[in-house]
Amino acid sequence: MSDPVSTTLPETEQADKEFLDDVIAGLHRQPKQLAPKYFYDEQGSRYFDQICQLEEYYPYRTELELLPRVAKELNDYFHQQTSDGIHVIEFGAGSLHKIKPLLEHVEQIDEFTAIDISGAHLQSACAELKNYFPELTIHGVEADFTRPFPLKAEGRVHLGFFPGSTIGNLAPAEAVEFLANARQTLGEGSYMLLGVDTKKDEQLLHQAYNDSAGVTAKFNKNVLVRINRELGADFDLDGFRHEAWYNDAKGRVEMHLRSVREQRVTLGTQVFDFAKDETIHTENSYKYHPHEFEDLAAKAGWHAEKWWLADNQMFSVTLLRSDQ
Ligand SMILES: C[S@@+](CC[C@H](N)C(=O)[O-])C[C@H]1O[C@@H](n2cnc3c(N)ncnc32)[C@H](O)[C@@H]1O
Repeated sequence: MSDPVSTTLPETEQADKEFLDDVIAGLHRQPKQLAPKYFYDEQGSRYFDQICQLEEYYPYRTELELLPRVAKELNDYFHQQTSDGIHVIEFGAGSLHKIKPLLEHVEQIDEFTAIDISGAHLQSACAELKNYFPELTIHGVEADFTRPFPLKAEGRVHLGFFPGSTIGNLAPAEAVEFLANARQTLGEGSYMLLGVDTKKDEQLLHQAYNDSAGVTAKFNKNVLVRINRELGADFDLDGFRHEAWYNDAKGRVEMHLRSVREQRVTLGTQVFDFAKDETIHTENSYKYHPHEFEDLAAKAGWHAEKWWLADNQMFSVTLLRSDQ
């Protein structure tokens, strides 16, 4: 019998302190900002799953439709490269839908580590995956993927997997840092497969981040709900509205929470004043042409071995190989 799902949890107190420190620092900045990783408590992960089902949110289904084609070609590719087993390490794994086409088609994968900051959601997703793939060794690790992470290296091919264009939530310099750290974590001769959203018509981007059912608005405001509940702040949820737009000069969709009036928010002894129309910048989603992304990855010591573009050009997947 294969190993049961193993899970590793972080020190809760330290995570709480970091959340508090980051929120205070972010709300004292000009312009005010909060890190997107804080959207993802259990409720935030559920909202993200709902976003993935929206008609307007093309990235999820476009990538999911592309992945079986990618996985079949990867299977041939890896058979030519190695006879070793492959250990896949997924960063920001969410509900584990995207790993399934790889597990179905890439025969050499025999071990899977899923890293996510949303611990309870990750645990149940890992348990569900185990039902589909009972022979697979699965590790669920609740951790921040921007931090170094120890892996056992012997005799394994390491394939990093970073779907969902989550790399686009990092500024380009942070993305290079992430990719350089991932290269160190995965080790010499490793590979990395990334889903990257492409630049496209501004109207399509606008619709994707401003859905008519208002789910993205709830997801965006969830960070305030969390700050109220976990840190004891007094954000009036009706005092802020969701906004998202494409910033063409920076090649990114920006998400903000806009204060609908002049107001004051308190968090313990801290006081934050908001002018009417002032925003909290909550997320960026950078979009890249495949060649732009190739250049970015090269700065972190990876070269693009192959890339795939969806038939409608709306999403890309790139296989990187670590430079020797
Ligand atoms: C955009 S969702 C993508 C989910 C999934 N990979 C997909 O493609 O559908 C981002 C995921 O990354 C996780 N995440 C965000 N920031 C993180 C961080 N700093 N460390 C670990 N996980 C993070 C979130 O909890 C969420 O599951």
